[in-house]
Amino acid sequence: MKREACGSLRGKDAGRKVTLAGWVHRLRDLGSLTFVDLRDESGLVQLVFRELPQARKLSREDVIRVRGTVARREAPNPDLPTGEVEVVVDRLEVLSQTRPLPFSLEEEPPRASEETRLRYRYLDLRRPRMQRNLRLRHRTSMAIRDYLDRQGFIEVETPYLTRSTPEGARDFLVPSRLEPGKFYALPQSPQLFKQTLVISGVERYFQIVRCFRDEDLRADRQPEFTQLDLEMAFLEAPEELFALIEGLLAYVFRETIGVEFDTPFPRLSYDQALSRYGSDKPDLRFGLELVDVTKQFSASEMRLLREAVAAGGRVFALRVPGGAGFSRKELGELEGVAKTYGAKGLLWLARGEELRGPLAKFLPDPEPLWRATGAEPGDLLLLVADAFELAATALGQVRLELGRKLSLIPEGKWCPLWVVDFPLLEWSEEENRWSARHHPFTSPKAEDLPKLMDPSFPTERLGELRANAYDLVLNGVELGGGSIRIHRREVQQRMLEVLGIGPEEAEGRFGFFLRALEYGAPPHGGIALGLDRWVMMLAGEESLREVIAFPKTASGACPLTGAPAEVDPGQLAELGLEVKGD
Ligand code: AMO
Repeated sequence: MKREACGSLRGKDAGRKVTLAGWVHRLRDLGSLTFVDLRDESGLVQLVFRELPQARKLSREDVIRVRGTVARREAPNPDLPTGEVEVVVDRLEVLSQTRPLPFSLEEEPPRASEETRLRYRYLDLRRPRMQRNLRLRHRTSMAIRDYLDRQGFIEVETPYLTRSTPEGARDFLVPSRLEPGKFYALPQSPQLFKQTLVISGVERYFQIVRCFRDEDLRADRQPEFTQLDLEMAFLEAPEELFALIEGLLAYVFRETIGVEFDTPFPRLSYDQALSRYGSDKPDLRFGLELVDVTKQFSASEMRLLREAVAAGGRVFALRVPGGAGFSRKELGELEGVAKTYGAKGLLWLARGEELRGPLAKFLPDPEPLWRATGAEPGDLLLLVADAFELAATALGQVRLELGRKLSLIPEGKWCPLWVVDFPLLEWSEEENRWSARHHPFTSPKAEDLPKLMDPSFPTERLGELRANAYDLVLNGVELGGGSIRIHRREVQQRMLEVLGIGPEEAEGRFGFFLRALEYGAPPHGGIALGLDRWVMMLAGEESLREVIAFPKTASGACPLTGAPAEVDPGQLAELGLEVKGD
């Protein structure tokens, strides 16, 4: 008889003979009666064994096949879709027995360590929550493909064994056997391939693609992760792409979790995002905006403030309504956050019955400050003074901490936005040179192009140039980033030169692409969205590991397979490699 789905049985099936197979989810042995919850992909159903002693020997997670008759339950279980019925078993077959389980699959969240969960991932993935996440991920990918296909995009696969694709991380390298001493790099993204595809006449490309980046891992970073990568020909300004991606997000949220989005999404420039929220990925689910009070402190008697302003820095303030009563300990914790992000300290001013805080005695007339910040009696002001990005970022992190501490972040609220007008370049102290803020193939804004191309433009002012780049941010998470690309060879060459990559090195690393730009490259642009991050948010999870079937630990290991692992000396010899001892 054909196997039926456990989760599909309902009251109307009463009296039917069925064959079911699955895992023993739960077991209750009442002597002459044994109850088993049988689980398969579709859900659970209760089995009843009368006078079947074999059933008493079952263990959780054994795999069985049963034949029986559907009956209405005396005491229905309203919490279970199949709760009206049970299956009275007349034949039991044990298909596979399990060893004792290393951890309980019922605890939510599981008490087992991450390491144990990943080592026994096949057990961990049986948990309903993980099954739900895998299915949600599948539905997300299906919805993306469906939407983009209807918009005229085609999915094209690009190579995994390739050359370095600079996205700011280290490469994973793969040695070549046929050409000893040479290496492939796994792609950090398909950036150059997608641009090459557009030059090849694929006007609307997308790919759900694995990317590899050897960087320090965090809860929202994995060494291999998946992007929805796309590129469009004849894109000269981002508006068309914004509308497309907003439609895509709205469609996927509706199809997967039934959430509706308002479009168009708000936009903030990079400077606005930093000045108002202290972050280039602002969480707009709550207010608590920063206020620039540099003007109020330009002639401050407090040296720290005066000097920061004199050095071209900024002073940002955050008003905490009703915060005047914060304890020293609470203030100390907030200062700790600011210092972690590089601030020298966190100044505070409490507008209680009297002024309190280190700033109080340097503030003969606080009125202008109250006006600028809107601070009222009972409020607290927190201030950081430093270089623009540092001061804003440090106070922005204090803002996020306060959002959590004061429970200002509403559940179930979705706040997407575009952050635009990023700096084109950033100064790398470590390497003592300019590096691309997004990547080297991003075009400057049209008005800044002449400055980039002008060899007499002062190098130290290159940081002023803005990029035609944008990030898609959702609830404080960077979901995606992209740009309008450089499509003229001389501009690309100049950009590489500004990044310290001379013509010879440029030819070696990107020669193929520079040549492609000489054969009729249309204007183009695109974006990549982090699929793992997206699904993590749809699933309401805190870590990417909950939405990736076989993820890596924080140290980049796979406890299931034991990767990375040593290899056979013979294999190394074939590759012309030798591992040096310490
Ligand atoms: P970018 O480097 O901004 O852009 O990456 C795009 C998005 O990919 C996700 N992401 C990651 N997710 C998990 N783990 C990681 N280690 C990780 N790194 C990045 C983020 C990020 O926003 N080629 C360009 C795109 C373009 O210009 O079109 C690129 O890769 O959600």
